[in-house]
Formats: sequence, structure tokens, C-alpha cells
Amino acid sequence: MNLTFRPRRLRRTPTLRRMVRETRLAPDHLVYPLFVVPGQGVRNPVESMPGVFQLSVEGIVAECKEVHALGIPAVILFGIPEHKDATGTGAYADDGIVQRAVRAIKQAVPELAVITDVCLCEYTDHGHCGVIEGNDVANDPTVELLVKEAVSHARAGADVVAPSDMMDGRVGAIRAGLDDAGLTQVPILSYAAKFASAFYGPFRDAAESVPKFGDRRSYQMDPPNLREALREVLLDLDEGADMVMVKPAIPYLDVVRAVREAVDVPVAAYNVSGEYAMIRAAAAKGWIDGDAAMLELLTGIRRAGADLIVTYFAKDAARLLG
Ligand code: PBG
Repeated sequence: MNLTFRPRRLRRTPTLRRMVRETRLAPDHLVYPLFVVPGQGVRNPVESMPGVFQLSVEGIVAECKEVHALGIPAVILFGIPEHKDATGTGAYADDGIVQRAVRAIKQAVPELAVITDVCLCEYTDHGHCGVIEGNDVANDPTVELLVKEAVSHARAGADVVAPSDMMDGRVGAIRAGLDDAGLTQVPILSYAAKFASAFYGPFRDAAESVPKFGDRRSYQMDPPNLREALREVLLDLDEGADMVMVKPAIPYLDVVRAVREAVDVPVAAYNVSGEYAMIRAAAAKGWIDGDAAMLELLTGIRRAGADLIVTYFAKDAARLLG
């Protein structure tokens, strides 16, 4: 038996472990999602996501100040409009809910980066991510509306726009639309590999975006497919994406790793609502140490290769990471 090398030597003290740690997790790596609703003083708890609230604009601003003070560099905004309709008009209205929130945040906390989720599902009365023709979400007419939405968000002051709809060709169209509007400096974070996942359930409660019929499998990716995820990523980069996202995170860490190795742009992973809810629920029952599980999970997503993690845990993690 060769005991010349004893791996335990470097694990003996916290200091030694700190010196040889291969993966760093810091508030810098986190993005905090926020749900903005119309009204004043609104603070609706999302039942399936303990600790997450729908907030009206002034509550969003207060939250952003806290997020900034914790050292988290960015938030991603989702809007729930006062009215939903067939074409998601609220998404690209210049006085829309997200547009108002962006202006208020940029005024109050200018250093905080504001990313906006560009999608129609929160704004359509049928809950799909685009306009319906027949029984299907029509790709190209949807892309036109997504361009209007992205331009409108950027005009309101969004630092980054993040299309999450999974229509074909939307990144290129949004890039052209931003450039035509003189917004050449606004980057696109594309949800490049977004899978049709069971882990979005709690989010759909928070964003009030459950599809009224059918599901999203004709546009979101089929979970078994890794090669296709790489194709989606390369396509989005060709079309001008500045950063790419994989979503969800936990069941797709192999995809995060493969994307990390295939491209040299920043890679984000979305630690989605169902992943958050599972840990919160198990911790509430006393079945798991919630804080330890959270940090282990976020570290794992970083180790898989994500530069950025969008996560509802951002504030709690930042507090512990200090
Ligand atoms: C679509 C969108 C979804 C999420 C982010 N953007 C949900 C969906 O496709 O239904 C899910 C995020 C989460 O589960 O935390 N606009």
C-alpha cells in the first residue's frame, strides 16, 4: 500500500482548505430575480417560494437597495401587468410595469445592473410565450413583438436584456432592433438552452404565467438533448448574444459544463424556482440543513462552469458569504 501521498494532509484545517479551494462563490456571481406588480405598497408572498414576494415599484426599489448593499451586482426583472391580452401589449408599452420599475431602480440605485426578462408569457391572457395562430405559438410574429419589448426595456434604462422565450431567430432580430434604435451598447443575455422543465412550476405562480392550454414543449428544449443545447448556444452567439444561459441548473449541470468548454463568452445558469422550492421545503421540515445545502448547490453550479448564477437564494447566500 502506497501511503506516500495522503490527500487528507491538505484538508486538516480551515486555512489549508481555504488555500487549495478550486472554486469560488461570491456575491459577485449572483443575480437576484424580482417580480414587479402594479400598485402601491403591494407585497404578495409567493406561497410556493417562501421568502419571495410580488412587489410594487417602491418595494422593488427598496429591495434593490438591499441587494446592492449585499454586494450583489444585478437583478433580473419579471413584470406582471395590470391587463393581459392576446398579444401581450403590456410587455412593450413604454409605461409598462417593467419599464416603470427599471426607471425607478436606475434612478435610485444607478450602480446596480438591471437585467430584464424579455418574454410574453407574463403578458398574454393565454400564458404562452408568444402570439397564437391556430394551436401553435407563431414564431416570426412573436419575434417582432419581442424586439419591441427589448427595445422598450433598453430605452427605459435596462443594462442587459434577456430573451427567455425560445423563439428561433430572436437574438439576431433583437440585436438589429437595438442597433437601429441606437442602443448598440446594450448587451443580450440569451436564455440559449432553456429546457421544457417541471421545475418552473413555482415561478408560474409568481409570474402568473401558467399556460391556459397545452405546454411549452414546441418551443422550449427537450430535456434529453445536450448536442442540441450546444447548437442553440452557437446559433445565439452567431446572432449576436453577449452571454448565454442554461436553464434550469441542477438537472443540467452537464450542459453548463459542455457550454463552458465550447464557448468563451460568459455563461450563466438559472437556479430555477422548483430547485429553490425543494430546498426551502425540505429545510422547513427539518429534513435538510437549508443554508449548507444552498451553498453546496451554488458552489456546484459554479464548479460546473457557470460564471453567473440567477438565483432566488442570492440575498441569503450573499449574507452568508459576506
Ligand atoms: C419565461 C420564464 C420562465 C422562467 C423564467 N422566464 C418560465 C417558463 O418558461 O414558464 C422560469 C424561472 C423559474 O422557474 O425560476 N418568461
